[in-house]
Amino acid sequence: MSFTDTHMDFRTPELDALASAVIPEQHFELRSEEARDNYFTDTSKLDAKQLVHDRFRTNPLALHDHLLKALDLRGTEELLDLGCGNGELLARLRPYLAAGHLTAFDIAPGALEAARQRLDGVATPCEFVEGSADDLRVLAEDSFDRVMAVYMAHYVTDLDACFAEVRRVLRPGGRFVLATDSTDSMVEMWNVHFAALRDMNAPETLFRATPKGRISLSNGTEQLTPHFASVERVDWQDQLQFGKAGSFMAFYRSCDHCCASSKPGADLPPEFFTELEARVHARVQDAIETTGYFALTKYTGHFICS
Ligand SMILES: C[S@@+](CC[C@H](N)C(=O)[O-])C[C@H]1O[C@@H](n2cnc3c(N)ncnc32)[C@H](O)[C@@H]1O
Repeated sequence: MSFTDTHMDFRTPELDALASAVIPEQHFELRSEEARDNYFTDTSKLDAKQLVHDRFRTNPLALHDHLLKALDLRGTEELLDLGCGNGELLARLRPYLAAGHLTAFDIAPGALEAARQRLDGVATPCEFVEGSADDLRVLAEDSFDRVMAVYMAHYVTDLDACFAEVRRVLRPGGRFVLATDSTDSMVEMWNVHFAALRDMNAPETLFRATPKGRISLSNGTEQLTPHFASVERVDWQDQLQFGKAGSFMAFYRSCDHCCASSKPGADLPPEFFTELEARVHARVQDAIETTGYFALTKYTGHFICS
């Protein structure tokens, strides 16, 4: 396999079988405001996730490499990043847009502030706009050459309005890149998470996977096609491989046991989650002792729309 190979394939019949056994319908919908107020009050969880991907990925190409290909930049474009988070991606893409213009857009003030700090002092003009991606009225028609929405569209309540707004602010000939995961991504994590919950006779409401109930790589084409003449789906994969259970636990914790679906709240005491973590840790440790590492397989990708 060459280091420029983007077609790494980690799928096996065993993983596919596990996915259909473990992830039936647990994907749920989470509103942006709820995500903003509970999950993105600061970017510590997002920072942790990005760090884990950087340290443990086995695909030599990182997310921003894939985005760079999809965005097809000349270096002078005006780019709008919807749901920019901590600005990590914008900072990585910025050298390819040194003579361009960046607009960082997010619903969470804490995320926007982190992005502002990360881009502080760069000579490329940057703007920071707080708002929701389904209402871009503050942005002028035909004002961007590229718009990207990376791992954020699943939070947006009115996706139809969002895509119509993206179309409106995108210049003719411009490009919209929407990145998201497939619903069977990270099955190994759901497997250990659900097994630990079962061992604890946990309430049924906790058996949920990701908030990708609204949109994912699996169903995005149908939702984008009414708004764009061309919608191309690009799939790619990665596998995070953890040699220590503790390293995986940093990722698991950043998902809020898991993906904000089951975290300490009024119904369950913190001790419940301490035990849940211990049980997940033990299962991951078992896998490491058996196979040398714990694998987390990511089926991800993006849509290129124009
Ligand atoms: C998982 S993070 C992704 C951040 C960044 N795009 C990345 O991939 O590193 C999702 C981001 O989307 C933001 N977000 C959620 N709903 C939004 C909405 N309706 N409009 C704008 N931003 C939103 C969150 O505040 C958060 O910063």
